[in-house]
Amino acid sequence: MAPSATFIDVEPPTVIGPATKKATRPSNALPQSLIQGAKVAKRESFDPAKHLSFQPPKSIYTMEQLGLQGHGISPNAASEPFPLFTQEAIAQMRAEIFDEKVLAECQYSSTFNKNMVRGMGPARAPFTYDAWKSPEVLSIISQVAGIELVPSIDFEIANINISVRDENSEVEKTISLVSDDELPAVAWHYDSFPFVCVTMLSDCTGMVGGETALRAPNGEIMKVRGPAMGTAVVLQGRYIEHQALKAMGGRERISMVTCFRPKSPLVKDETVLVGVRGISNISELYTQYTDYRLEILEERIRHQRKQEREREVAQRPFNVPDMKRFLTNQKLFIESMLQEIQEVD
Ligand SMILES: [Fe+2]
Repeated sequence: MAPSATFIDVEPPTVIGPATKKATRPSNALPQSLIQGAKVAKRESFDPAKHLSFQPPKSIYTMEQLGLQGHGISPNAASEPFPLFTQEAIAQMRAEIFDEKVLAECQYSSTFNKNMVRGMGPARAPFTYDAWKSPEVLSIISQVAGIELVPSIDFEIANINISVRDENSEVEKTISLVSDDELPAVAWHYDSFPFVCVTMLSDCTGMVGGETALRAPNGEIMKVRGPAMGTAVVLQGRYIEHQALKAMGGRERISMVTCFRPKSPLVKDETVLVGVRGISNISELYTQYTDYRLEILEERIRHQRKQEREREVAQRPFNVPDMKRFLTNQKLFIESMLQEIQEVD
C-alpha cells in the first residue's frame, strides 16, 4: 500500500508539548468504583476472530479537503468513527488499565491531561499490546490511514486519557477530577506522531459533544464525530491542527490513543518527542525511539547502496544532486534526533 499521491518537501508543523517537564504522578486517586467496575471474571488472550468488529468508516476526510494536499505522509486526513473492537475486547482492555499494578506504575499527569495511563507494555497489559500489534488490527488501521503503518514505539501502546465526573459530591470534593458538567477538552495542537488512532473505552450514551475539530490553514473548521464505545477514529495528527471538543453529560470519558508511523523506512518520519517527554519513562522512551530511528537509517543506507550498485551496473553516471538530497535528508533525520534526545532533570 504505497502512498499514491505526490508529497511536497515542507517543514512539518511545530509541536507544542505540555509544560510538564518530567514524569509526574496524578495528585488525585481514581474513584474506587471505576477500579472495581473494570474487573473481569477471566482474563483472555487477544483473538481477532472474537475481539474485532471492524466495519469500514462511512467517510474519510482527505488532506486535499483540508487544503493540505501533499502535506504529511498520506492523502487521508481523518476518518469518521468506525467499529473496531467488541464489547468483550473493551472489557479486557479496561481490566488491564485499572489493574492495581498498572495504576501503581503507569499513571501520569500533565498540564494537558490530569489523568493518564501510559506505557503499560506487554508484561502488564498483554491483551492491549497484542491487539495493537496484531496483523489484523494493523491492516485495518493502515487501510483507513491510506498508508501502511506500525505502532510508533511500544511505550505508546497505549496512552489512555481518563476523565471522570463523580456524582457523589462528597467524593468530588476530595477527588475533584472535573468540577462542572463538562469533561475537559484539549486546546488546538499537532501531535508528536504521524498518525493516531483514538478508541473509545467508555459508554457515551447521553453524552453530547466530544467531537474532534480539524482546522484548515484558511481557518475553516471541520468536525469529526467523537467515537462511541468500541469505535475508533484515525487521524494524521502530526500534520493537521486539531482539538478535542468538550463532552457534556457523560459520567466518564476514557479514550485510548495509539500512535503510528510509516512501516516503510523510505517514507519520511517526522516524529518528535516534545508531546511525550514529560509524561514517559525517559529511559524506555529514548531507548525505543533511538532503536527504531537507527533501524530506519540502517535500512535507508542499505537501500541507497543497492541503488548505487544497480546504477553502476547499468552504467549510468553518478548523480550528484540525488546523492546530496539523500545525504541531506539523513543529516536532517539525525539532527532531529539530536534535538529530541534531551537531558531531563
Ligand atoms: Fe492530538
